[in-house]
Amino acid sequence: MKVRIYRFKECVSTQDIAKKLADDGAAEGTVVIADKMASGRGRLNRVWVADEGGLWFTIILRPKSLSNVQLVTLMAGVSVVEGIKKLYDVPLELKWPNDVLLNGRKLCGVLTEARISNNVIDYLLLGIGVNVNNELRGDLKHTAISLKSYLGHEVPINDLFIEILKCLEVLYESLQSGSLSYIVNLWKKYSTTLGRCVRVFTADGVVEGLAYDVGLDGSLVINVGRGVEKVYSGDVIHLTFGESKSCSDE
Ligand code: BTN
Repeated sequence: MKVRIYRFKECVSTQDIAKKLADDGAAEGTVVIADKMASGRGRLNRVWVADEGGLWFTIILRPKSLSNVQLVTLMAGVSVVEGIKKLYDVPLELKWPNDVLLNGRKLCGVLTEARISNNVIDYLLLGIGVNVNNELRGDLKHTAISLKSYLGHEVPINDLFIEILKCLEVLYESLQSGSLSYIVNLWKKYSTTLGRCVRVFTADGVVEGLAYDVGLDGSLVINVGRGVEKVYSGDVIHLTFGESKSCSDE
């Protein structure tokens, strides 16, 4: 994958710029990075606070197969974990589907937006936001964490960006060549969701039970007591670690 980088001091959202570039035919591997964003986007149309000092970027991908798409978010989480671990020894964990946690707080979020027409994927906009040297404000002080606050010193953002990109390139190639279980197994290695009782808010309602697997389609497999349910997207709350096969008797 040939990487081409567009750098901005400030923009509204790197997702929007990447979308325009992708609509105009920009190649896979085109990256938009900004020092800060006026209106960063999170999942489910939430606001993503993106002050100076963080790593905020979007990469355009044009995966060959629609079936790989579900794993792109998980792949991105693994790339962030492995990229950071190349430089620092930090106990990072992955929370399904798109969070990288440090000390139980959010260090990084991933947003995957797609343009699909007639069941064919035109492009994906893979947005990655990592709290690196940025100060966290308001409620984020309690729910999020920056790498700088954990390590006690400033982190060179560019080095981190390059390591994460390198990991992304390697894992994306595996994904494109069909190594789905390789990606899923790596994700499971860092998972903090599996083995826990979870409550998942999906578009169709709430699913509660023991999270015990992630499928090759990226779904979270939950033992709900009366059987097994798979969820494909949603917001997860970690409840406890499940000691029994189901969480209903807790
Ligand atoms: C989430 O956890 O809700 C996803 C957050 C994704 C944030 C990144 S930062 C780079 C890219 N541009 C955006 O506006 N959002 C994503």
